Amino acid sequence: MNEAYNNIITRRSIRNFTGEIVSKEIIDLILEAGLAAPSAVNKQPWEILVVEDREILDTIANLEGFYTKMTKKASAAIVVCGNTEKTLPGLAQIYWVQDTSAMTENILLASHALGIGAVWTGVYPSVDRVKKVSELLDLPSHIIPLNIIPIGVISNENTFAKEIDKSCIHYGKWTK
Ligand SMILES: Cc1cc2nc3c(=O)[nH]c(=O)nc-3n(C[C@H](O)[C@H](O)[C@H](O)COP(=O)(O)O)c2cc1C
Repeated sequence: MNEAYNNIITRRSIRNFTGEIVSKEIIDLILEAGLAAPSAVNKQPWEILVVEDREILDTIANLEGFYTKMTKKASAAIVVCGNTEKTLPGLAQIYWVQDTSAMTENILLASHALGIGAVWTGVYPSVDRVKKVSELLDLPSHIIPLNIIPIGVISNENTFAKEIDKSCIHYGKWTK
Protein backbone atom coordinates (compact mmCIF):
# COMPACT_ATOMS: atom_id res chain seq x y z
CA MET A 1 0.00 0.00 0.00
CA ASN A 2 1.14 3.57 -0.73
CA GLU A 3 2.89 5.00 2.34
CA ALA A 4 1.00 8.33 2.47
CA TYR A 5 -2.34 6.56 2.11
CA ASN A 6 -1.40 4.08 4.80
CA ASN A 7 -0.47 6.96 7.13
CA ILE A 8 -3.93 8.47 6.72
CA ILE A 9 -5.72 5.17 7.30
CA THR A 10 -3.70 4.20 10.40
CA ARG A 11 -3.75 7.57 12.23
CA ARG A 12 -5.37 7.39 15.66
CA SER A 13 -5.81 9.77 18.57
CA ILE A 14 -3.05 9.03 21.05
CA ARG A 15 -3.70 9.86 24.69
CA ASN A 16 -0.95 7.91 26.47
CA PHE A 17 2.47 9.48 26.52
CA THR A 18 5.69 8.40 28.27
CA GLY A 19 6.54 11.91 29.44
CA GLU A 20 9.73 11.97 27.33
CA ILE A 21 10.62 15.10 25.37
CA VAL A 22 9.89 15.42 21.66
CA SER A 23 12.84 17.21 20.01
CA LYS A 24 12.54 20.71 18.59
CA GLU A 25 13.48 19.34 15.14
CA ILE A 26 10.51 16.97 15.19
CA ILE A 27 8.14 19.68 16.46
CA ASP A 28 9.35 22.01 13.68
CA LEU A 29 8.58 19.34 11.06
CA ILE A 30 5.10 18.83 12.51
CA LEU A 31 4.42 22.59 12.49
CA GLU A 32 5.68 22.96 8.93
CA ALA A 33 3.23 20.26 7.85
CA GLY A 34 0.48 22.23 9.60
CA LEU A 35 1.44 25.38 7.73
CA ALA A 36 1.23 23.50 4.42
CA ALA A 37 -2.53 23.08 4.86
CA PRO A 38 -5.01 24.58 2.41
CA SER A 39 -6.97 27.69 3.39
CA ALA A 40 -9.73 29.68 1.71
CA VAL A 41 -8.21 32.13 -0.80
CA ASN A 42 -4.88 31.07 0.74
CA LYS A 43 -5.48 33.58 3.56
CA GLN A 44 -3.68 31.37 6.13
CA PRO A 45 -5.63 33.06 8.93
CA TRP A 46 -3.91 31.12 11.68
CA GLU A 47 -1.45 31.34 14.55
CA ILE A 48 0.19 28.49 16.43
CA LEU A 49 1.32 28.53 20.05
CA VAL A 50 3.71 25.80 21.14
CA VAL A 51 3.43 25.29 24.90
CA GLU A 52 6.32 23.41 26.50
CA ASP A 53 6.25 24.96 29.97
CA ARG A 54 5.50 22.16 32.44
CA GLU A 55 3.41 24.34 34.70
CA ILE A 56 1.16 25.49 31.84
CA LEU A 57 0.88 21.92 30.50
CA ASP A 58 -0.23 20.75 33.92
CA THR A 59 -2.76 23.57 34.12
CA ILE A 60 -4.15 22.53 30.72
CA ALA A 61 -4.41 18.94 31.94
CA ASN A 62 -6.58 20.07 34.85
CA LEU A 63 -8.77 22.67 33.16
CA GLU A 64 -12.37 22.21 34.24
CA GLY A 65 -14.73 21.31 31.41
CA PHE A 66 -11.93 20.04 29.16
CA TYR A 67 -10.91 16.49 28.16
CA THR A 68 -7.20 17.20 28.27
CA LYS A 69 -5.87 14.96 31.08
CA MET A 70 -3.35 13.40 28.69
CA THR A 71 -1.49 16.73 28.66
CA LYS A 72 -0.02 15.79 32.06
CA LYS A 73 2.46 13.50 30.29
CA ALA A 74 2.66 15.32 26.97
CA SER A 75 5.94 16.84 25.85
CA ALA A 76 4.19 19.86 24.40
CA ALA A 77 0.81 21.20 23.45
CA ILE A 78 0.23 22.81 20.09
CA VAL A 79 -2.55 25.38 20.30
CA VAL A 80 -4.05 26.04 16.87
CA CYS A 81 -5.72 29.44 16.66
CA GLY A 82 -7.60 31.52 14.13
CA ASN A 83 -6.57 35.14 13.63
CA THR A 84 -9.67 37.17 12.77
CA GLU A 85 -7.46 40.02 11.52
CA LYS A 86 -6.14 37.77 8.74
CA THR A 87 -9.43 36.25 7.62
CA LEU A 88 -11.60 36.95 4.61
CA PRO A 89 -14.11 39.79 5.22
CA GLY A 90 -17.81 39.53 6.10
CA LEU A 91 -19.60 36.21 6.11
CA ALA A 92 -16.50 34.45 4.78
CA GLN A 93 -14.66 35.24 8.02
CA ILE A 94 -15.85 31.95 9.52
CA TYR A 95 -13.70 30.05 7.01
CA TRP A 96 -10.94 30.35 9.59
CA VAL A 97 -12.57 27.33 11.28
CA GLN A 98 -12.18 25.10 8.22
CA ASP A 99 -8.70 26.50 7.55
CA THR A 100 -7.42 25.76 11.04
CA SER A 101 -9.16 22.37 11.01
CA ALA A 102 -7.25 21.49 7.83
CA MET A 103 -4.08 22.63 9.57
CA THR A 104 -4.95 20.46 12.55
CA GLU A 105 -5.40 17.34 10.46
CA ASN A 106 -2.04 17.99 8.79
CA ILE A 107 -0.48 18.26 12.25
CA LEU A 108 -2.09 14.97 13.35
CA LEU A 109 -1.02 13.17 10.18
CA ALA A 110 2.53 14.53 10.30
CA SER A 111 2.83 13.52 13.97
CA HIS A 112 1.70 10.02 13.09
CA ALA A 113 4.10 9.82 10.14
CA LEU A 114 6.96 10.80 12.45
CA GLY A 115 5.93 8.29 15.13
CA ILE A 116 4.71 10.93 17.59
CA GLY A 117 1.43 10.68 19.47
CA ALA A 118 -1.12 13.49 19.17
CA VAL A 119 -4.79 14.15 19.84
CA TRP A 120 -7.17 16.97 18.90
CA THR A 121 -8.82 18.34 22.04
CA GLY A 122 -11.64 20.74 21.29
CA VAL A 123 -11.79 24.36 22.44
CA TYR A 124 -13.81 26.48 19.93
CA PRO A 125 -16.82 26.92 19.69
CA SER A 126 -17.26 26.48 23.44
CA VAL A 127 -17.35 30.05 24.78
CA ASP A 128 -16.22 28.86 28.20
CA ARG A 129 -13.24 26.90 26.84
CA VAL A 130 -12.17 29.74 24.53
CA LYS A 131 -12.27 32.12 27.51
CA LYS A 132 -10.21 29.81 29.73
CA VAL A 133 -7.53 29.13 27.10
CA SER A 134 -7.37 32.82 26.13
CA GLU A 135 -6.85 33.81 29.76
CA LEU A 136 -4.24 31.11 30.35
CA LEU A 137 -2.20 32.05 27.27
CA ASP A 138 -2.81 35.83 27.25
CA LEU A 139 -4.48 35.70 23.84
CA PRO A 140 -5.83 38.99 22.47
CA SER A 141 -9.49 38.96 21.38
CA HIS A 142 -8.71 38.50 17.64
CA ILE A 143 -6.83 35.23 18.35
CA ILE A 144 -9.31 32.38 18.84
CA PRO A 145 -8.08 28.95 19.97
CA LEU A 146 -9.65 26.17 17.88
CA ASN A 147 -8.07 23.35 19.81
CA ILE A 148 -5.19 22.12 21.90
CA ILE A 149 -3.11 19.26 20.48
CA PRO A 150 -1.06 17.55 23.20
CA ILE A 151 1.84 15.69 21.58
CA GLY A 152 4.30 13.26 23.06
CA VAL A 153 6.31 10.09 22.84
CA ILE A 154 3.80 7.23 22.55
CA SER A 155 3.60 4.90 25.53
CA ASN A 156 3.05 1.27 24.62
CA GLU A 157 -0.21 1.31 26.57
CA ASN A 158 -2.01 2.18 23.35
CA THR A 159 -3.89 -0.75 21.91
CA PHE A 160 -6.79 0.12 19.70
CA ALA A 161 -8.53 -0.77 16.53
CA LYS A 162 -11.05 1.28 14.63
CA GLU A 163 -13.57 0.08 12.15
CA ILE A 164 -14.07 2.21 9.08
CA ASP A 165 -17.85 2.69 8.67
CA LYS A 166 -18.73 3.07 5.00
CA SER A 167 -22.50 3.27 5.56
CA CYS A 168 -22.38 7.08 5.23
CA ILE A 169 -21.14 6.94 1.64
CA HIS A 170 -23.83 7.69 -0.97
CA TYR A 171 -23.40 7.57 -4.72
CA GLY A 172 -25.43 9.97 -6.82
CA LYS A 173 -28.61 11.50 -5.38
CA TRP A 174 -29.72 10.91 -1.80
CA THR A 175 -31.61 7.64 -1.35
CA LYS A 176 -33.21 6.48 1.88
C1 LIG B 1 -13.56 18.62 17.05
C2 LIG B 1 -12.91 17.51 17.85
C3 LIG B 1 -12.81 17.63 19.21
C4 LIG B 1 -12.20 16.62 19.97
N1 LIG B 1 -12.04 16.80 21.32
C5 LIG B 1 -11.40 15.86 22.04
C6 LIG B 1 -11.12 16.09 23.42
O1 LIG B 1 -11.46 17.14 23.98
N2 LIG B 1 -10.44 15.12 24.10
C7 LIG B 1 -10.04 13.97 23.49
O2 LIG B 1 -9.44 13.13 24.18
N3 LIG B 1 -10.28 13.72 22.19
C8 LIG B 1 -10.94 14.64 21.45
N4 LIG B 1 -11.12 14.44 20.10
C9 LIG B 1 -10.64 13.21 19.46
C10 LIG B 1 -11.80 12.26 19.13
O3 LIG B 1 -12.31 11.70 20.31
C11 LIG B 1 -11.28 11.17 18.16
O4 LIG B 1 -10.82 11.76 16.98
C12 LIG B 1 -12.37 10.15 17.85
O5 LIG B 1 -12.73 9.42 18.98
C13 LIG B 1 -11.93 9.18 16.75
O6 LIG B 1 -10.74 8.51 17.12
P1 LIG B 1 -9.43 8.58 16.24
O7 LIG B 1 -8.94 10.00 16.23
O8 LIG B 1 -8.47 7.65 16.91
O9 LIG B 1 -9.77 8.14 14.84
C14 LIG B 1 -11.71 15.44 19.33
C15 LIG B 1 -11.80 15.34 17.94
C16 LIG B 1 -12.37 16.36 17.20
C17 LIG B 1 -12.40 16.24 15.69
